[in-house]
Amino acid sequence: MDSLEGILDEIARAGDEHLDPGYVAEYDRKAAFAADAVEEVQLLCGLGLEQGSTLVDLGAGTGTLSLAAAARCRRVVAVDVSPAMLRATEEKAAALGVSNVECVHAGFLTYEHRGSPADFVYSRNALHHLPDFWKALALRRIGLILRPGGIFRLHDIVFAFDPCEAERFIEAWLASGAERPEDGWTRAELEQHLREEHSTFNWLLEPMLERAGFQISEAGYGSRRIYADYLCVKTGRTARESSASACKDG
Ligand SMILES: C[S@@+](CC[C@H](N)C(=O)[O-])C[C@H]1O[C@@H](n2cnc3c(N)ncnc32)[C@H](O)[C@@H]1O
Repeated sequence: MDSLEGILDEIARAGDEHLDPGYVAEYDRKAAFAADAVEEVQLLCGLGLEQGSTLVDLGAGTGTLSLAAAARCRRVVAVDVSPAMLRATEEKAAALGVSNVECVHAGFLTYEHRGSPADFVYSRNALHHLPDFWKALALRRIGLILRPGGIFRLHDIVFAFDPCEAERFIEAWLASGAERPEDGWTRAELEQHLREEHSTFNWLLEPMLERAGFQISEAGYGSRRIYADYLCVKTGRTARESSASACKDG
């Protein structure tokens, strides 16, 4: 990433657990994402994902979404900073006989896309590893991966409430934690997320998306106001003239 590359160590911020092969081996059971991933792929198909498409999955983890999408498109790139996560994706791909998922060891800030521009970028529960300044830069880079009109599907822990409502919504979230770590994220893990990771408010993230040149066509927060789903379209223009003229490649 230009001259800023190397200032932020993305691996150091990736969460130690994501680098731990033992944790990764249990990740799919804990995350229970397989059924939702199939639904997500159906959604993307409804938005134009087809046999000729390229999809980039950023912070792909064990590749659940990448592998679910593989049969529906030409090329999937699963990007993650964790070698253990990428190994898990590769092993699952081999076991399934999937040959069109490329695993790339890189982060939001270092991934260099090659080949034709992506039609879709997908990211689930990973962007929050970056502080807001770096999120804004990562979003701009995502815009550069996509073709104009391409779709960015983002799901993450995003707080859709005002600070004065934080206690109510956060307490309800913490109280919903799993009893056992193998069944989901426990209260202690959710508290650790709040302490150490960088989930932000929707009213901060959404202007960042727009400034990066995305039009937010759908935003959903659910009743808990803790998890956000965005469908964003790359408009090819940054939101502000000032930004557009400053970023000639945007
Ligand atoms: C909670 S897991 C989510 C994995 C997958 N997207 C899913 O939904 O199951 C977060 C993933 O983001 C990865 N990650 C953390 N920081 C990252 C960064 N800066 N760039 C790319 N991936 C990152 C971690 O290694 C981990 O695999």
